Amino acid sequence: MKHYPYIAKSYNYHNPLGIIITWCMKQMVIIISCTKTMIITILILIIFCAVLINGANVKKSSSSIGTKGQWQLLLHNSGVVSMHMALTNRNTVIMFDQTGAGQSGYKLRKRYNGTWCTTSHNDLVDPTCYAHSVEYDIAANKVRPLRLDTDTWSSSGSFLSNGTLLQTGGYGNGAKSIRFCRPCDGGGGKNLTCGWIQSKKTLFDERWYASSKKLAEHDRVVVVGGRNVFTYEFVPKINHEEKSFALPFLHQTNDKNSGGDNLYPFLHLSSDGNLFIFANRDSILLNARRNWVIKTFPRIPGHGSRNYPSSGSSVMLPLHHKHKFQKVEVMVCGGSTTGAFRAANKGMFLEGLRSCGRMVITGES
Ligand SMILES: *[C@@H]1O[C@H](CO)[C@@H](O)[C@H](O)[C@H]1NC(C)=O
Ligand SMILES: *[C@@H]1O[C@H](CO)[C@@H](O)[C@H](O)[C@H]1NC(C)=O
Ligand SMILES: *[C@@H]1O[C@H](CO)[C@@H](O)[C@H](O)[C@H]1NC(C)=O
Repeated sequence: MKHYPYIAKSYNYHNPLGIIITWCMKQMVIIISCTKTMIITILILIIFCAVLINGANVKKSSSSIGTKGQWQLLLHNSGVVSMHMALTNRNTVIMFDQTGAGQSGYKLRKRYNGTWCTTSHNDLVDPTCYAHSVEYDIAANKVRPLRLDTDTWSSSGSFLSNGTLLQTGGYGNGAKSIRFCRPCDGGGGKNLTCGWIQSKKTLFDERWYASSKKLAEHDRVVVVGGRNVFTYEFVPKINHEEKSFALPFLHQTNDKNSGGDNLYPFLHLSSDGNLFIFANRDSILLNARRNWVIKTFPRIPGHGSRNYPSSGSSVMLPLHHKHKFQKVEVMVCGGSTTGAFRAANKGMFLEGLRSCGRMVITGES
């Protein structure tokens, strides 16, 4: 506690009031200096604590990098490139690749048509002597090959309500394919009543890089778009006459110079049963029951494109009971600068988009 005599001196009156005032001033100075010291002490304490807490945080986060969570190598070779991968309700993961890429890391002893795969040069390069899909059993930590008859390269898939995966489209002989993959009940990979089944039915249009979404009613899936395909269709169809439906929006969002940039459109089923479709930079709300576009949303900010090959991504944000699970908000993140696809072909790699956008797709706004 410091005393400041010079202030007291200036109030050195000789009358009693002056003495009282001087005394009061002295007390005030003491109080002020006391408060000052306290404030300074508190400030120093706060700074000290802040540094301590900060130090502790830094220490904590730097140590958590090394100790929280741990990667475990499960298998040294899954055998198949998992271009597509899906977790099933049987605690297995289905992985599959394109079938046309030649050999995979999983050589078969026998082709699926029953003939032996020999060590002859022909058989070593024959893609039918290799698996192109496997089912990974999480509990057993084992993979087993699954027969895949048509090319699933950049196909689209949705789970049906009974847990079977419906995979549509792809490349070449798979462009119009409809296949089911029924997951297995473990069984150490010996249960053969499961796996891929090729449907006798086909899609109406070829769909390479399309997206699919299971709708709310009748376990029906809608398959949207594809490379140079500006339509959508349903699986299964309601009747034999049902075809695909034109969707000019896919034509409008197709950037020919950029490899499309509207492929693998982002699909979200809204709480009102309508389908949100986002392609390139634009989005609509489609009434899939009556096949009309009921809403066109404003363009997302940012100079670039969000869909394939620009390859951003999208999620529906959590629904809340406060809004009776009716309010739906969608978020879109990443993508590439306009022209990135062409530039990449010339060996120039433009920076990706850093931005995200979110939008409520229900209600009047
Ligand atoms: C089985 O598939 C191989 C390779 O495609 C083919 O050469 C062979 O003729 C087929 N055999 C039968 C019995 O279908
Ligand atoms: C689920 O339904 C599909 C389509 O009707 C069918 O092909 C598949 O076998 C069913 N899966 C199971 C596990 O019953
Ligand atoms: C094989 O899998 C099917 C479908 O998941 C199941 O119904 C059946 O019980 C399984 N069979 C055996 C022997 O595990």
